[in-house]
Amino acid sequence: MKIARYHAAGSPEVIQIEEAAEPEPQANQVVVRIEANALNPIDRYLRAGLRPVNLPAVPHFDYSGSIVKTGSDVQKWQIGDRVWGTRTRSGLHAGAAAEFIAEDEDLLFPIPAAMGSAAAASLAMVSFTAHIALFSRAQVQPGERILIYGGSGGVGRTAIQLARRHGLGIISTASTALKAEIALQSGADEVIDLKTQNVVERVMDWSKGQGVDVILEMSASETIADDLQIVRNRGRIVAIGSPVNYQPTLPWLMLNRKNATVHGILVFTATQDELQKAGKEISQCMATCDLNAHIGARLPFSAIVQAHHLLDAGKTIGRIVLEMR
Ligand SMILES: NC(=O)c1ccc[n+]([C@@H]2O[C@H](COP(=O)([O-])OP(=O)(O)OC[C@H]3O[C@@H](n4cnc5c(N)ncnc54)[C@H](OP(=O)(O)O)[C@@H]3O)[C@@H](O)[C@H]2O)c1
Repeated sequence: MKIARYHAAGSPEVIQIEEAAEPEPQANQVVVRIEANALNPIDRYLRAGLRPVNLPAVPHFDYSGSIVKTGSDVQKWQIGDRVWGTRTRSGLHAGAAAEFIAEDEDLLFPIPAAMGSAAAASLAMVSFTAHIALFSRAQVQPGERILIYGGSGGVGRTAIQLARRHGLGIISTASTALKAEIALQSGADEVIDLKTQNVVERVMDWSKGQGVDVILEMSASETIADDLQIVRNRGRIVAIGSPVNYQPTLPWLMLNRKNATVHGILVFTATQDELQKAGKEISQCMATCDLNAHIGARLPFSAIVQAHHLLDAGKTIGRIVLEMR
């Protein structure tokens, strides 16, 4: 089978498509014939050497496909079932950029009949992250107000859709008019233009001076001080991303004054219970509600280097998806 690997960190050209033996399932595993992979920011951090990873590494955690083999103890799945997932348990070096992967049966979730493979893959990591941040970390309640940064990004846009269904008031942010429109169409009540507007002023104005109960943070090192001004007493901040650095100065006095809580989240170390709950609800939501994908680029697997160039450029709005066609 074909498998993508990089043997050293660096520019997209470090990725090569190689030949490998097809995996065999262990007793509790299935083998999935991969139909699509989606790329996430972490794929760039690892490939570029910004975060450590064991080498050689197979990129891309998000996948969709159909089951072609089942292990002897597998109960939940049959050959031919269509499934999606994100590889959170195999190690950061063991992604899904291959024609086949062997995966534990508990880490897979069903794709509804009406949803395409590219759409399902593109929702995998962003949905887990948004769901766990909202419902497990922040424990949002209907009627609460939430600030979701980056409402056109993968996690932000998915979080807006889930928060809308749950009855929250939502204010989001965007750095361009097109991104603001995407956040509004996803269900945000208001969107702050990051280029021309002040986040603290806009949030306090929108919330009639009360602030927000919950903040989903996409760049904690840059915005944590603002967060502590606008979060309500006993509010919750979920630090999802900090792409600039991991050294924000935490304003302890404000944290105490607000009786606030800062929650960490990492899908790779989330508990199995959290992943199971989130995965089941996301599959249901794919089938029965308006959780929908936003694909920015679709490329064949053979164009994996080009896909990483797009990822590095950071200009694609929506997920970059590779299809095994
Ligand atoms: N903790 C976890 O388990 C986990 C899982 C998945 C992703 N993440 C992290 O979460 C972040 C978002 O992931 P993604 O997949 O949604 O990425 P994405 O699709 O590339 O979107 C990134 C978003 O972050 C926003 N953003 C970046 N810097 C910002 C700032 N200073 N202020 C406000 N918004 C800012 C961007 O807003 P504009 O485009 O409007 O500038 C954009 O919407 C990344 O840092 C990623 O590494 C963490």
